[in-house]
Amino acid sequence: MDKENNPQWVFCVVTQRLGRMPDKTWMQTADWKSEKHVPVIEAPDVVKKGEVVKVTVSVGKQIPHPNVTEHHIKWLDLFFWADGEKFPMEVGYATFDTHGESAQGPNTGPLYSEPFAVFAFKITKPGTLMATSYCNIHGLWKSEKDIAIK
Ligand code: FE2
Repeated sequence: MDKENNPQWVFCVVTQRLGRMPDKTWMQTADWKSEKHVPVIEAPDVVKKGEVVKVTVSVGKQIPHPNVTEHHIKWLDLFFWADGEKFPMEVGYATFDTHGESAQGPNTGPLYSEPFAVFAFKITKPGTLMATSYCNIHGLWKSEKDIAIK
């Protein structure tokens, strides 16, 4: 048997090396206090129906994430999924486009944009916020927070 060309055998080797079944997870998550990529959602637990809510989303609140040309957070995206609704809605999207780039080379520019955004909105139903962040090296991360209506 030609092991190298046998998908089942290759699968077994990969499983042994990883110590688990290989899978494809699009978005990683963890506690933001111990993992620097996780977007931190700062929002009230309860809001009044129809009142403007201000929600901050950031990366690096507890553990700073690198912010250099080679390694940085490119964007944050915030969604809201109202209870009982079939689909989530996008609240807003923020990009961070400059990380020390300049004509003189990487990390020589005068501007390093920080992954920090404030979104303002009104809701008429309780639901769940989901923030996503994208690191140019370490991919997609997410976090969630429920909001109730009083
Ligand atoms: Fe990263």
